[in-house]
Amino acid sequence: MTFTFPKDFTWGTATASYQVEGAIHEDGRTASIWDTYCAVPGNILDGSSGEFACDQYHRYPEDIKLMQELGVEAYRLSVAWPRIIPEYDGPVNQAGIDYYKRVLEALREAGIKPAVTLYHWDLPQYLEDRGGWANRETALRFADYVAVLAHEFGDLVDTWITLNEPWCVAYLGYGNGAHAPGLHDHAKALAAVHHLNLAHGLAVKAIRAELGEKAKVAVTLNLAANIAETDAPEDIAAKRRADLIANEVFLGPMLDGAYDPEIFEATKHVTDWSFVQDGDVEIAHQPIDVLGFNYYSTNHVRGCAAAATFEGDRHANAMPAQECVETLPPADELTAMGWNQEPEALTAMLVELSRRWPDLPVMITENGSAWEDEVSEDPTAPGGLIVHDPKRVAYLEAHVKAVAAAIEAGANVTGYFAWSLLDNFEWALGYTKRFGIIRVDYDTQARIWKDSALRFRQIVQENAI
Ligand code: NOJ
Repeated sequence: MTFTFPKDFTWGTATASYQVEGAIHEDGRTASIWDTYCAVPGNILDGSSGEFACDQYHRYPEDIKLMQELGVEAYRLSVAWPRIIPEYDGPVNQAGIDYYKRVLEALREAGIKPAVTLYHWDLPQYLEDRGGWANRETALRFADYVAVLAHEFGDLVDTWITLNEPWCVAYLGYGNGAHAPGLHDHAKALAAVHHLNLAHGLAVKAIRAELGEKAKVAVTLNLAANIAETDAPEDIAAKRRADLIANEVFLGPMLDGAYDPEIFEATKHVTDWSFVQDGDVEIAHQPIDVLGFNYYSTNHVRGCAAAATFEGDRHANAMPAQECVETLPPADELTAMGWNQEPEALTAMLVELSRRWPDLPVMITENGSAWEDEVSEDPTAPGGLIVHDPKRVAYLEAHVKAVAAAIEAGANVTGYFAWSLLDNFEWALGYTKRFGIIRVDYDTQARIWKDSALRFRQIVQENAI
């Protein structure tokens, strides 16, 4: 059975500044926390950094051509804050503004709508030196930076995405140190959670102040798909507790204007939340137009007296310890990230989001999978090379079908962005994991098509699966 998507459904591909741009010393950019983190031996699996990445800083015209060949209607990219405001209290860097204007204008000429993430993890190092997201000031500085972007880019941007995956920013950055800035401090992680909520609200206000109601504003969350392993009450309670700390800490303030009091109770051994000031949650609770959702895999959880916690992945110890929440090892065929594949959970979560917030459309701002790819010769392919990646094709099809099933079940889903347009710098895993639907040969910077890109092109063209 073929499912045809609504005719205004948006198909796109996604990337992020530090993962693809390279050119970290060019045109006045200063260090971000990721430059600092990558410089510490042992932090990045292959010892690499985003110094060169995919060189998109210089090759964006070629990448935009690829997007045209793919037929996608949208591109999700992010802006590197240290390119825009390179010094604490320093002026706006015109060269940084000009770079993104060139990209946005080129996208417009190509007929591709930009969805611009304002924070995809490259915090200026000078702000980390003052406490980073654990410090309230970072949220206020974020609002100033966003006001500059709204003023400069105006209607060149189609969708403004305030933050990408604040869960990772707070818990991996400040909780277990798996990401920059590499701290191990759960109290700071929860302060970061709150300051990210505040930053989101302040950013929405800054965009509206400049562009009014016509601006389309979103935030992207990587909502955890926690699944109770059985129907036993203790497993269901464990799922609820896991959801609270992973998801509700953001959904509550941003979409409902309140923290669930159980969150304070569950984390009182870590912090008293005195960083929450009067009026903060009201600021965080701004009307938005779209909820961005990044979905990859699931976590199966059990309550007390069940299996031992699985500590073999980058999520281990990221969030404060919770009583009786045990995560099971992922089952069945895992991707190269060690993540399971459970597309039905994507359907369920989309349906649930639309049930809770019926007026808020959801866009899949990232979905994709990493695999060990091999290059083959193919005289008919551009450059004579191709990657046959049947597992990525299967993952793509299964997840696009899962989105279709959610729409059929009444969920309001308005778009799907494949992660990623290109293989790129996969954070602490460096270049060892390839998520692209197009391969990057890092020696030559050649772009090589994969079968998944061809399949995605077909899905986009037919607007159907
Ligand atoms: C989510 C992040 O937003 C992105 O930067 C990352 O590369 C992908 N997930 C894959 O891990």
